Amino acid sequence: MSPRGRVLCVGLVCLDIISVVDSYPEEDTDTRCVSQRWQRGGNASNTCTVLSQLGVPCAFMGTLAAGRVADFITDDFSRCGVDASLVVRHAAGVTPCACCSLSLASGSRTVLLWDLDLPEISADDFSKVDLGPFRWIHWEGRNGDEQVRMIARVNEMNGRRDPGEVITVSVEIEKPEKLDTHQLMGHGDVVFISKDFAKHAGYDSAEAAVRGLYGRVKRGAVLVCAWGEQGAAATGPGGEVARSPAFPPPTLVDTLGAGDTFIAGVIAALSRGQSLQEALTFGCRVAGKKCGVQGYEGLGELC
Ligand code: FRU
Repeated sequence: MSPRGRVLCVGLVCLDIISVVDSYPEEDTDTRCVSQRWQRGGNASNTCTVLSQLGVPCAFMGTLAAGRVADFITDDFSRCGVDASLVVRHAAGVTPCACCSLSLASGSRTVLLWDLDLPEISADDFSKVDLGPFRWIHWEGRNGDEQVRMIARVNEMNGRRDPGEVITVSVEIEKPEKLDTHQLMGHGDVVFISKDFAKHAGYDSAEAAVRGLYGRVKRGAVLVCAWGEQGAAATGPGGEVARSPAFPPPTLVDTLGAGDTFIAGVIAALSRGQSLQEALTFGCRVAGKKCGVQGYEGLGELC
């Protein structure tokens, strides 16, 4: 791997306290679950976990508070081979935590997240990062205004580099209610939008969404939309639409982080020079495989 072969993902890391249940409980009941575990979570953090499994050297940048939860998370990054040296630790605040219920009956995942007691990565934090080792930087849409400033720094650097040396920028816009992340659409070379975001914008399929929203991405960019069990679609400057079906496992076991896994698969394939169609299909395959296992183990076998 070349010295600048790394992918950097910027976004959330949190503790996921996962309860696997036979079926989703009724409100105001007291149920024993099938199993329970702690897992490192957060979209950008999960994407790193999968990238690393797929053999892509990667680093994570996000914030952590002090304390044992943060230590658990840091240990887990290193267990998974993800470089966490760019994590910014804050002495005050609370590391984000999500209580997640996974229903074996339906395959649903229900998440209750608390992430409002810790600053996000700022443009100032990002200005201190040596971008030399990176060939791709992915932003999970969170503090959009600051993230646009971070991307501007990358673009400035890219303008001074040889074409073969530029850093590819990708962004994920997941939550329609996070209005300040919508502007990221115009700033990625590869733009991932969620089914939720596309539905909120008035589209009823991945293909309709990428066709209808393509005018909002920057010139030459690629727009990708995953649609759960319906698969995914993507389009680029040529105007043709690539599609992939989903590859559901024999039994749905754990869908938490399937979207983050899909993104990792697409980034891994595109960064290896594969076509948009190949990348889309690979992303769907890895995400499908992930839904058949608890957590993110064993995904690397797909390579
Ligand atoms: C999965 C995930 C979980 C986390 C939640 C945060 O996509 O990143 O790991 O608890 O979403 O929204």
